[in-house]
Amino acid sequence: MLTGQAVRAISQDNGFVHWDSRYSVGIPLIDDQHKELIRLTNELYECCLLNDTAAKAAFMLTIKHTVTYVKYHFSAEEKLMQNIQFPGLAEHKKEHDAFVVQVLKEAKSFESGKQFVPNQFVHFLKDWTLSHIGVMDKKYAEYIRSLKKQGLLDKTVLSASPVNQ
Ligand code: FEO
Repeated sequence: MLTGQAVRAISQDNGFVHWDSRYSVGIPLIDDQHKELIRLTNELYECCLLNDTAAKAAFMLTIKHTVTYVKYHFSAEEKLMQNIQFPGLAEHKKEHDAFVVQVLKEAKSFESGKQFVPNQFVHFLKDWTLSHIGVMDKKYAEYIRSLKKQGLLDKTVLSASPVNQ
């Protein structure tokens, strides 16, 4: 669920990465989760701009929160794809899993203080998120649109979330 703070952060449009309607997959629940991922990326970026102990601690906390939220979002999406029997689920899940592995690896590097460039990490996060939404997530969105057109969509699956099932 997108918090009031997230909505404010996005609407202020002063971050490193900005939500744009072209990223919409047409499912409000998923769009809100993508907005939250963008907000977290901006939060990490802001931590990178400061170089003190407090910023380092905030960065670590936000990375942890990001990992938790990414897992939550991927789980919601995979449940949705499963419910609509999306044929690209296995390929999509593979990309999700690889991303989680990469982010966990980065978080570990950060914790150990070795070979970690925060700025590089937030750029990776931004590029991956926007490109994944624009390519992979749009594929199931298109599939949903085609189900809708054919009158084959059970609309209750669009509000599917791992926490309210
Ligand atoms: Fe929105 Fe497939 O991540």
